[in-house]
Amino acid sequence: MIILDGKKTSQELKEEIAADVAVLRQQGKKVPHLAAVIVGNDGASLTYVSSKVKACEQVGFQSTLVKLPEDTTEEALLDKVKELNANAEIDGYIVQLPLPRHIDEEKVLLAIDPKKDVDGFHPANFGRMALELESFIPATPYGIMQLLERYDIDTQGKHAIVIGRSHIVGRPISILLSQKGKYANATVTLAHSRTTDLKTLVLQADIVVSALGIPNFVNADMVKPGAVVIDVGITRVSDADAPKGYRIVGDVDFDQVAPKASFITPVPGGVGPMTIAMLLKNTLLARERSEV
Ligand code: GUN
Repeated sequence: MIILDGKKTSQELKEEIAADVAVLRQQGKKVPHLAAVIVGNDGASLTYVSSKVKACEQVGFQSTLVKLPEDTTEEALLDKVKELNANAEIDGYIVQLPLPRHIDEEKVLLAIDPKKDVDGFHPANFGRMALELESFIPATPYGIMQLLERYDIDTQGKHAIVIGRSHIVGRPISILLSQKGKYANATVTLAHSRTTDLKTLVLQADIVVSALGIPNFVNADMVKPGAVVIDVGITRVSDADAPKGYRIVGDVDFDQVAPKASFITPVPGGVGPMTIAMLLKNTLLARERSEV
């Protein structure tokens, strides 16, 4: 069994990105600039956004954090989005989700200029991705594809099952795995809450991607020996003994499943760090694409 070390792989990716930034600097060109908008005070969202901003500094990007109060109106947020679209200094930006309930998420995502949509959530980018055209691939599925590639995992003709059909992870990774390509060409089943006899389906799979958000949902009885297991779950579970009062737990019962797997991602340290690295990669791509 080989552990897919997202921490190490994301570090390598960040070094590659930092080297590209150094070249831009040497050429007297503008370095990439990522902005992140956060509305409200959700603890987990604030943590994610600050990790994204910190990662920008590590690779030599410029970054801007836009913190708006919980009671920000939809109109005010849409104005901020327009401002970021028009600001030539900003190459790419994200609006951290979820948004407060009084704001229509769809309206906000549609207002983002697809050329600056480094999350890849705008329908124009999602559609372009599905059609194998130049786009921004959402960071988490992009990170999973990078892990498969960098560990040279054979996906050709394999049966992959994706558990969860979210717009951010499940649906896009199911599309990417089924596309043409050396680290794709899989036969994909997309399972969800209405799937019947999930266990039988997972047992048939050579590659299991779990993006459900239910701690320890995937156990050893569900996994075929030799399967590749990718755990996208990052649920916070209260733990009085942990320094922060909680632990991050994945969808996969790692201790049970790891001995049966050929490759497996740990939580934390698997897919999570890859997500941030791929957001940086998309921001670098946004910068490069705006040059031409
Ligand atoms: N909320 C959870 N994951 C993400 C993400 O990748 N991007 C944004 N904008 N919000 C999120």
